[in-house]
Amino acid sequence: MVTKEYQRMVYAVIEALRTGEYVKPVQEAIRRAMKKYRIQGSSLDRRASGIIYGVFRNQGLIDRIIESLTNIEISKIDSEARAALRLVTYTVQLDPRAGHSLKHTIIRYAKKYLARKGRDNILKLIDIIASNKWRPVSEEDKIIINYRVSPQLYEALKHSFDLLGEDLEAFLSSTFKQYTKTFRANSLKASRSAVLEYLRRAGYEVRPGNYSPNSIIVSGPLGKDLVKLIETGILTPQDESSMVAVELLDPKPGTSIADLCAAPGGKTSYLAEYTRLKSRIHSFEIYSDRAKRMRRLLERTGTIKAVTIHVEDARRSPEILGEKSMDYVLVDPPCSSTGAIARNPDVRWRYREEDIKQIVVLQQELLEAGWKLLKHGGRLLYTVCSVLVEEGECVVKQFLEKHGDAVLVKLEKPFKQSPLLPGTMRAYPHLHGTIGFYYALLEKK
Ligand SMILES: C[S@@+](CC[C@H](N)C(=O)[O-])C[C@H]1O[C@@H](n2cnc3c(N)ncnc32)[C@H](O)[C@@H]1O
Repeated sequence: MVTKEYQRMVYAVIEALRTGEYVKPVQEAIRRAMKKYRIQGSSLDRRASGIIYGVFRNQGLIDRIIESLTNIEISKIDSEARAALRLVTYTVQLDPRAGHSLKHTIIRYAKKYLARKGRDNILKLIDIIASNKWRPVSEEDKIIINYRVSPQLYEALKHSFDLLGEDLEAFLSSTFKQYTKTFRANSLKASRSAVLEYLRRAGYEVRPGNYSPNSIIVSGPLGKDLVKLIETGILTPQDESSMVAVELLDPKPGTSIADLCAAPGGKTSYLAEYTRLKSRIHSFEIYSDRAKRMRRLLERTGTIKAVTIHVEDARRSPEILGEKSMDYVLVDPPCSSTGAIARNPDVRWRYREEDIKQIVVLQQELLEAGWKLLKHGGRLLYTVCSVLVEEGECVVKQFLEKHGDAVLVKLEKPFKQSPLLPGTMRAYPHLHGTIGFYYALLEKK
């Protein structure tokens, strides 16, 4: 093994794991660390990514192993030591592809990294982890081993799936499968059939998606022709369940539209495209760095001229735009992201009941703000990439009880009607091959 390169790889992995605790999405933390240690595009790029995703996917299990073998509390040690211990534990105890030589290399450089940072006290913990085999004992260990989710998240999912009459086992199994890579062809620049034809000629295995008229599914690696189409705004990476949200709202050209939680901008750019740049779209995003990212997407896709970006708390949108000023409103608030576990491995471990209670309050407040913005006869789509009923049916049910002027517009296609609140709809990874999404379409009487 070329030692210098492996040393940089180990340091990059530790850095990605450390910063991935607070930089979201974790993909961004990974990108930055790989760039810093010059691993991006090198021969160790794939190996490093595989290890990082392996650790994120197994984090709760790894922490349990560390705690039971060493008797330390993982949350009580600093983030550098935590990242190094997680890496060593994953490689030694769990990674089926790690041979003796890789294990040895990772232990060696993880120790070197800690020693350089003056963390000699952690080195003996690494030796304990490297020389003892962990075995599951409790029921909780078994849940973690079988499903790679925290016992708290498992309980929350079970509660929702029981109420929805859905198969939790099938859902959790689907989160281990390679998810489909889906893109939206930008009809302002090229038709879907032309893009499909172009990609086929370039040697790609592509097919039209199943639910949206503009979607394209790509099998295999991305490659430079496809990246070029993304850079020129002809293709935008987007899941079909997200495209469908815009199609359900079905805004008409020449109208006013508010997108209250808009970054990174997948739905805003589609709203602009869908209305052929003939509507005024007000897109709210509370974080300026995320709003900047959205601006770049809108520029790339040639949709920026139809959009006014407001870097504001969307709960203030009625003050900013005026009550009853919008024909259409999209509310796609922050959520647990439990519908997107396959893409966001950290979702498996970060669930906390208190956080959900807090996020539900925000969802309710954003929905209230959206409702105030809406004209009589206008339509609002409430959507979340969550499979938890607390963030879906419960929010909408409570809202309907409070607002006599709100009626549900029945949704049943292209996904599955919710038995808990008929007329609203859910997309599931195990049934539809998409991210799990909830949709409710409301009209103001
Ligand atoms: C689920 S994401 C939206 C995804 C987006 N609709 C799309 O399709 O690309 C939620 C977004 O809402 C933003 N957000 C959170 N709280 C907000 C608030 N009070 N006002 C406006 N935006 C907010 C988050 O930063 C995040 O970018």
